[in-house]
Amino acid sequence: MARKITVIPGDGIGPEIMSATLRVLDALDVGLEYEYASAGLVALEETGELLPPETMASIERNRILLKGPLTTPVGKGFRSINVTLRKAFDLYANVRPVVSMPGTRSHFGDIDIITVRENTQGAYLAADAQISEDGQRAESKMVVTREGCSRITHYAYELARRAGRKKVTIVHKANILKHVSGMFLDVAREVAKEYPDIETEEMIVDATCMKLVLNPWQFDVIVTTNLFGDIISDLCAGLVGGLGLAPGANIGETSAMFEAVHGSAPDIAGQKIANPMALMLASAQMLTHMGMEAQARRLRDAIREALREGDTERLTPDVGGHGTTDSLAGAVIDHLD
Ligand SMILES: NC(=O)c1ccc[n+]([C@@H]2O[C@H](COP(=O)([O-])OP(=O)(O)OC[C@H]3O[C@@H](n4cnc5c(N)ncnc54)[C@H](O)[C@@H]3O)[C@@H](O)[C@H]2O)c1
Repeated sequence: MARKITVIPGDGIGPEIMSATLRVLDALDVGLEYEYASAGLVALEETGELLPPETMASIERNRILLKGPLTTPVGKGFRSINVTLRKAFDLYANVRPVVSMPGTRSHFGDIDIITVRENTQGAYLAADAQISEDGQRAESKMVVTREGCSRITHYAYELARRAGRKKVTIVHKANILKHVSGMFLDVAREVAKEYPDIETEEMIVDATCMKLVLNPWQFDVIVTTNLFGDIISDLCAGLVGGLGLAPGANIGETSAMFEAVHGSAPDIAGQKIANPMALMLASAQMLTHMGMEAQARRLRDAIREALREGDTERLTPDVGGHGTTDSLAGAVIDHLD
């Protein structure tokens, strides 16, 4: 029986890269059925809401969301749609793998790092955020809980075990943020004891950034809090040539959302030259999450082979070709076998 997932094509290049990605998933024959839902600017124009209740109901029903990039209107008092979705479905683990791919512009090769970032607590939740009446003072609270620190660290170690990884690096700033980062480090150390088969190291966030640039091969799985994780995962994407091939999963106890890390790229929307590979890699994460690891590997290998082959007629301009979103999907499909 087909497994139904919710699909939000998204704004800008979203519908183009989503249709290419679904073409590849169909060719993989993984037995998925798609329930389309809208969000972002498209939904705002159609329904007056960025995240209509029908879309939320569809995610609630299907529990798996494949999402194209969404545009959050700037300066109109709209809350980020991504933040809203993470909060509504308690998607606490943001998992961002970066892997070197052939034919991409990057300063390093052979990189394979997974960043696991806490998604629902800390600086970005901006608890009690306010600006004083005279506009001279801004403040917001950073809150973490032992439970929140524990579940993200457990998630990272379980992922490391499942994926056969060797080491988890706990990234913190407990020397300065003694309470908030201190609690994270404290709990992470306790959790680490449950996984003696996996090497644990602790690293302060600023030193981590330097070491990532000097010797990125020493890293395997990184686990950290919200703000540090956001910055570090982009740094890691930079190590393999930028956001173009960076997927991201947002995982909760009951629901999960998979997306490309890049945005809706309004500058090239409608030109049919957007690279769908990041969304395809996100859908490979989705297949792994759904227990279809063999198909996920087939998809990742096909993407890698399409890049290795380097057929400039079929690859999109960002990876050195002059093809289209559709021709690139065709190249990936041809390499599925
Ligand atoms: N996950 C999301 O939904 C998400 C993430 C980031 C930004 N956004 C939104 O996207 C909009 C545009 O943001 P931005 O311009 O800062 O970032 P962006 O990632 O959309 O674009 C940055 C640059 O990268 C290029 N690019 C991005 N994806 C590409 C792809 N798949 N293939 C080829 N080139 C690609 C763009 O053409 C642009 O030059 C904003 O409204 C922002 O809020 C959404």
